[in-house]
Amino acid sequence: MTDKTILRALRGEALPTPPVWMMRQAGRYLPEYRATRAQAGDFLSLCYNPDLAAEVTLQPIRRYGFDAAILFADILLLPQALGMDLWFETGEGPRLSTVTTPAGLAALKAAGDVHDRLAPIYETVRILSRELPRETTLIGFAGAPWTVATYMIAGRGTRDQGPAHALKSTDRATFAGIIDLLTEATIEYLSAQVDAGAEVIKLFDSWAGSLKGQDFEDFAVAPAARIIAALRARHPGLPIIAFPREAGEGYIGFARKTGADCVAIDNSVSADWAARHVQVDGCVQGNLDPRHMVTGGEALVKATRDVVRAFSGGPHIFNLGHGITPDADPENVALMVETIRRG
Ligand code: CP3
Repeated sequence: MTDKTILRALRGEALPTPPVWMMRQAGRYLPEYRATRAQAGDFLSLCYNPDLAAEVTLQPIRRYGFDAAILFADILLLPQALGMDLWFETGEGPRLSTVTTPAGLAALKAAGDVHDRLAPIYETVRILSRELPRETTLIGFAGAPWTVATYMIAGRGTRDQGPAHALKSTDRATFAGIIDLLTEATIEYLSAQVDAGAEVIKLFDSWAGSLKGQDFEDFAVAPAARIIAALRARHPGLPIIAFPREAGEGYIGFARKTGADCVAIDNSVSADWAARHVQVDGCVQGNLDPRHMVTGGEALVKATRDVVRAFSGGPHIFNLGHGITPDADPENVALMVETIRRG
């Protein structure tokens, strides 16, 4: 049995001090990240350079001693591996070629053919599993099919995921085909990350909140359940964290319905509510408002303690409700970690 704190929490243990890591912990708020990204040239070159991607993954571990490291990569590398174009516009975010027609879907690669392009990512995982401190858990990840599909259909990030919702109603077969292909490709991608040394898998469904009613069941719950079942069949006992962001009431029962060991909670719901309604089914992760990493001070200390206290009756991994932002102050992250660990 391992003594890694994250794995213990994922097995359902309530620990006296919750383990902690942060979404986007390797990122632009850190000067050492910005320096390594400059050395790589740009963000995508950094993702595909195993030595430098491993380096930026390790930077926040060295600085803060987080209990987990998350592989440095991006959820949009998978559509690129399926044959789509991907680039990042400075200051604006991701851009992709689009897929909205049966012919466009047919032109994509098969799920099993993504590995050549993704080989550098698996190499990053192998380097990390050698170099991480023995107490640090290595988390691999992918985007959930719905969230990745929203970018593939619109060719960019969208406020309300309008283009994906539109395709879902005008050409349901093509939409469902995209979700199916992504589900299969995600199983292949995550399984290869586990083979390379990832100890935990996290599935990011950042736009799950815009799926309502039966759509939430069909396109957030069902694909996650399929991915989790397939991964468990190949890797018995693999711990999995699901993040159906802004699911609201949809968080209730999400772990039971999908088989996830842990549900990550965003900060649009209160920790007390999530303890009552979600932690009853097992481990939860979250959910400090990332704004506190910008504003700091006593409010940060109080909010951190409130999250720890709310979840102290059950298994909990401390995290932010969403990714840390580039304007965050690294000192505030240190204050958060210190507040959690000194109790
Ligand atoms: O958490 C980590 O530190 C691991 C690495 C990671 C990144 N992206 C690196 C990244 C992870 C887990 C992601 C997930 C991701 N990527 C999601 C889901 C989680 C979420 O935030 O909701 C999404 C939707 C994406 C797609 C994406 N990548 C967008 C919309 C952007 C642009 C917005 C932004 O923050 O710049 C990215 C770029 C990106 N991915 C950066 C990083 C560190 C910033 C790139 C840079 O250095 O300029």
